[in-house]
Amino acid sequence: MIARMHRCAVALALALSCSGIVGAATEGAPELPVFSPEGANTCLACHNTPAVTGIFRSVHSAAADARSPFGQYQCESCHGPQGQHLPLHGDAIISFGPNAKTPVGIQNDMCLDCHAATKGDWLSSSHEAGDLGCADCHVLHAGRDSMLTVTEQPDRCYACHLQQRGQMFKPYVHPVRQGKMNCSACHDPHGSVAEFELTSNNLNETCYSCHAEKRGPFVFEHPPAAEDCSLCHEVHGSNHPAMLTKRPPLLCQQCHSQSGHPSVSYTSGGLPGGSPSPFVLAGSCMNCHGSVHGSNHPSGITLMR
Ligand code: HEC
Ligand code: HEC
Ligand code: HEC
Ligand code: HEC
Ligand code: HEC
Ligand code: HEC
Ligand code: HEC
Ligand code: HEC
Ligand code: HEC
Ligand code: HEC
Repeated sequence: MIARMHRCAVALALALSCSGIVGAATEGAPELPVFSPEGANTCLACHNTPAVTGIFRSVHSAAADARSPFGQYQCESCHGPQGQHLPLHGDAIISFGPNAKTPVGIQNDMCLDCHAATKGDWLSSSHEAGDLGCADCHVLHAGRDSMLTVTEQPDRCYACHLQQRGQMFKPYVHPVRQGKMNCSACHDPHGSVAEFELTSNNLNETCYSCHAEKRGPFVFEHPPAAEDCSLCHEVHGSNHPAMLTKRPPLLCQQCHSQSGHPSVSYTSGGLPGGSPSPFVLAGSCMNCHGSVHGSNHPSGITLMR
């Protein structure tokens, strides 16, 4: 709580309006502002609008819960102490969101004081580095935070991540558009130990959490599958079946030379009798090498079974 009051003092100093709030502040050493004795009632005298009172339908309004803002200083738990002499808040109020006057670091600290569990990852996340505030994503003056619902969350992320939006509307995708999974199935937007803020330790581990059968262990591994699924799959969506980065045989020929058995794409015209080559028919290389993720068959060395 002391930390929070101190921050408010910093916010006030930044806004150069300290003295307005705390009355006779000693020069050079601003007094800590105090909380208004009437709590939310003070504020609601002027702010009794649906856009504000929506917070009473949210988890934050649990007055019986001592951890909750309404179990503490109510509105001022987040917006900072406003003193006895309202309405004086002007610039002194701690306001939230992308257009708020309060510096984003102070906004976030107000939340992180209570949400300590979020803090560790957050401080090293790309979103923190990108100067995002908690309120860029979370909607608190509402019964339901759209960031936390499976169906609404992706649209909130697309607002900033247009490239992923484009990919998610391609023909072969994870069932995000269908509302069966969302971005946070694979990403932790508060940051994580893995690159790309993935939910597991690395890319493949993230995939195995749902596609366990691809983990193996395999007697005959296909090295790229064990190494990095995204060598062949475009995880946010692709124009090729199974979300492949390229269509076979091109996919396979990126790494496999055309020596050995012929892996070049014969046209039917080039073949005796004009019959199309099994190397380019629908299943392409997988007509024969069906176990591209690895094989446990005793004679699976060429990934054919
Ligand atoms: C006497 C009326 C009055 C009272 C009491 C009052 N406010 Fe305000 N508040 C206003 C007005 C008017 C504005 C809009 C003008 C402005 O930005 O200062 C405002 C703006 C705000 C803003 C938006 C600030 C911004 O920069 O966008 C927040 C947040 C806020 N009030 C919170 C509170 C809280 C929390 C309390 C109780 C501790 C409170 N208000 C008490 C009148 C009041
Ligand atoms: C859990 C923290 C929290 C609590 C408690 C809280 N607010 Fe807010 N308030 C926010 C955030 C975050 C925003 C930015 C908009 C949003 O996310 O909904 C905001 C926005 C506002 C605004 C500006 C709305 C606008 O026009 O953009 C006002 C006014 C306000 N709050 C008043 C209040 C009052 C009055 C209370 C108490 C009844 C209160 N707040 C309790 C976090 C909080
Ligand atoms: C005074 C402490 C306090 C402050 C300040 C606070 N929260 Fe919370 N918050 C809580 C508690 C308590 C819960 C309920 C947690 C639980 O039930 O496990 C909660 C829950 C949440 C949830 C989950 C909501 C849900 O529907 O499950 C989110 C998101 C959240 N807070 C974001 C914020 C953000 C963003 C801020 C800053 C604007 C903030 N909180 C400020 C105490 C606080
Ligand atoms: C880029 C968007 C984004 C930002 C920024 C963000 N969050 Fe979240 N937050 C989410 C999402 C998405 C979830 C739901 C995670 C899930 O489904 O597992 C969430 C969940 C939460 C929860 C619920 C419990 C939990 O951890 O799963 C809390 C509390 C919370 N956020 C607090 C914060 C605080 C505090 C900040 C600022 C320091 C913040 N968030 C910034 C997107 C964001
Ligand atoms: C307000 C804008 C905004 C919103 C909303 C937002 N992001 Fe971000 N995101 C950013 C910024 C800025 C960065 C950091 C700069 C960058 O790498 O592009 C970032 C970075 C990321 C990264 C890390 C990229 C990397 O290379 O490490 C991931 C993953 C990500 N966001 C996912 C999400 C998800 C999932 C959501 C929704 C839950 C979301 N973002 C919502 C702005 C946003
Ligand atoms: C099935 C898991 C999965 C889902 C669902 C998912 N992502 Fe990703 N995302 C990844 C992986 C893996 C990477 C890193 C490799 C890559 O970019 O192909 C990544 C990378 C990113 C990046 C960083 C791209 C870059 O090149 O820096 C952003 C931003 C991002 N995802 C946003 C989102 C958003 C927004 C959503 C929801 C619409 C989402 N992701 C859903 C797995 C997923
Ligand atoms: C949260 C669970 C989850 C995670 C994590 C996940 N997936 Fe998926 N994946 C699914 C679901 C659900 C489907 C759709 C299955 C269906 O439609 O039958 C799917 C489908 C696929 C498909 C296409 C299947 C087809 O027949 O077209 C591929 C390829 C795929 N995932 C690869 C990946 C990769 C690579 C990763 C890791 C970056 C990953 N998945 C992470 C749940 C997940
Ligand atoms: C060498 C390229 C390659 C790599 C690497 C790869 N895949 Fe695939 N994957 C494919 C091909 C090709 C298909 C289509 C198979 C078919 O059509 O018979 C496929 C299909 C899939 C499918 C849908 C069909 C099925 O078999 O369930 C899933 C899910 C999948 N891959 C997940 C993964 C995961 C998870 C990883 C990382 C562990 C991964 N893939 C790595 C080439 C690859
Ligand atoms: C990112 C590179 C890469 C891609 C893409 C790739 N492979 Fe491989 N593949 C390898 C490596 C590396 C080996 C191991 C070679 C070795 O052990 O000599 C291998 C081994 C194989 C083997 C077994 C060869 C042997 O000598 O045991 C077959 C069969 C095979 N790949 C088929 C495919 C098919 C079919 C595709 C397309 C679906 C494909 N590969 C895509 C890198 C790749
Ligand atoms: C008609 C079945 C068939 C098709 C289609 C096929 N292969 Fe093969 N492949 C084989 C057989 C049989 C072997 C093992 C015998 C051999 O070494 O010639 C083999 C062996 C391999 C090997 C092991 C090294 C080598 O050259 O001997 C690689 C790599 C390979 N194939 C890649 C591919 C790629 C890439 C494609 C698609 C362009 C493909 N194969 C299409 C049947 C096929």
